Amino acid sequence: MRRKIVAGNWKMNTTPVEGVELAKNVVAGKGGVCSCVDFIVCPPFTHLSEVIKVVRGSGIAVGAQNCAAEEKGAYTGEVSAKMIASLGAEYVILGHSERREYYGETSATLNKKMVQAYANQLVPIYCVGEKLAEREAGKHFDVVKAQIEEVVFNLTDEQFSKLIIAYEPVWAIGTGKTATADQAQEMHAFIRQVLASKFGEKAAETPILYGGSCKPSNAKEIFAKEDVDGGLIGGAALVADDFLAIGKGFEK
Ligand code: PGA
Repeated sequence: MRRKIVAGNWKMNTTPVEGVELAKNVVAGKGGVCSCVDFIVCPPFTHLSEVIKVVRGSGIAVGAQNCAAEEKGAYTGEVSAKMIASLGAEYVILGHSERREYYGETSATLNKKMVQAYANQLVPIYCVGEKLAEREAGKHFDVVKAQIEEVVFNLTDEQFSKLIIAYEPVWAIGTGKTATADQAQEMHAFIRQVLASKFGEKAAETPILYGGSCKPSNAKEIFAKEDVDGGLIGGAALVADDFLAIGKGFEK
């Protein structure tokens, strides 16, 4: 049985006060959702610490949205994996398409970030996904395969056994345009097959989350697909009731 995960990527939204309020509301409503769902919230760095205090004991885990590629030193403005882990965060989103697109993150950068994450016991939520033009050109499988081969294939078996993958078609992120449940399943099954070609049976245990305009109205249909193990939620994670309602996409 694979884990069922609903993770909220708050991106560059909420002040610390607003983030604490949001986290409190998620904690308060969690009882209405199947205990089979593992919730993760990923606030901005500035309120990781406060949000960790709020969710303590609730079963909700906290992740960062990024970490530095280097261990420590003269890297102005960067936040290391060790700093994040020392606050009590357990996860880190790596390779989000916004990081790849706006901050030039390549597979080479992401390999270094993976090393830092694992060295500090942070579980990476590694994002993959094609752009609209790539899908229209029929290259979506090749793009996603390369994103996996160039980074995930460098992990040891033990590291791989902890990894979470998020498939986020770039054309569906923040656009209101969701992949159909069948498109998600098709890509998730493909990803699992690529993972299995390197890691064998262990790939059957890897949680693969769908992301991209996932909301209460479509979560249930998408989560019902065999290879979809939950969601990485952006916009809808900023409203506690919506985030929780997405969790209800899994039967209680
Ligand atoms: P969205 O973002 O749910 O707002 O489309 C998802 C993500 O980018 O993680």
